[in-house]
Amino acid sequence: MSHPVTEERPVEHGDALNAIRAAVAEAPGPEAAAQRAVDLLRDRFAHYDWIGIYWVDGEELELGPWIGPQPTEHTRIRLGTGICGAAAASGQTQIVADVDADPRYLACFTSTRSEIVVPIFSEGDVVGEIDIDGEELEAFGETDARFLEEVAALLAPLRPRA
Ligand code: SME
Repeated sequence: MSHPVTEERPVEHGDALNAIRAAVAEAPGPEAAAQRAVDLLRDRFAHYDWIGIYWVDGEELELGPWIGPQPTEHTRIRLGTGICGAAAASGQTQIVADVDADPRYLACFTSTRSEIVVPIFSEGDVVGEIDIDGEELEAFGETDARFLEEVAALLAPLRPRA
């Protein structure tokens, strides 16, 4: 007997997507909604050590809501620069297993070992991205990528200048 191939979404990802959807619906405005989304991700996923949303502003990325142990000095990043700029310029999710082995990496925190950056699209254009730093090597995989791409779709309507 053949079974259709169904992609299983981990329960915690479905729950988190529902919580983000609810937060977006209930927040008083887009910035509060985006902040709530990063807070929820941080609360629910122990390997998401620093989480920020960058929004595209002309030729640069500008840091929006973030949560983590410390602020980053990289509040504006040129498109094409760093792993963040690469994700925005290419529209491709970037998973970096070992930041020290990636020459594109722009260092923010000495504790960071790995990173994932997921573009946020609106009408086919990259309008922002989710950037997550991990303190473990190889903290992120394809399951995180697929999940965060769904989160990105929920965040797209929250961009400034929308
Ligand atoms: N590491 C990023 C810069 C942003 S900080 O991680 C918050 C990069 O290489 O683009």
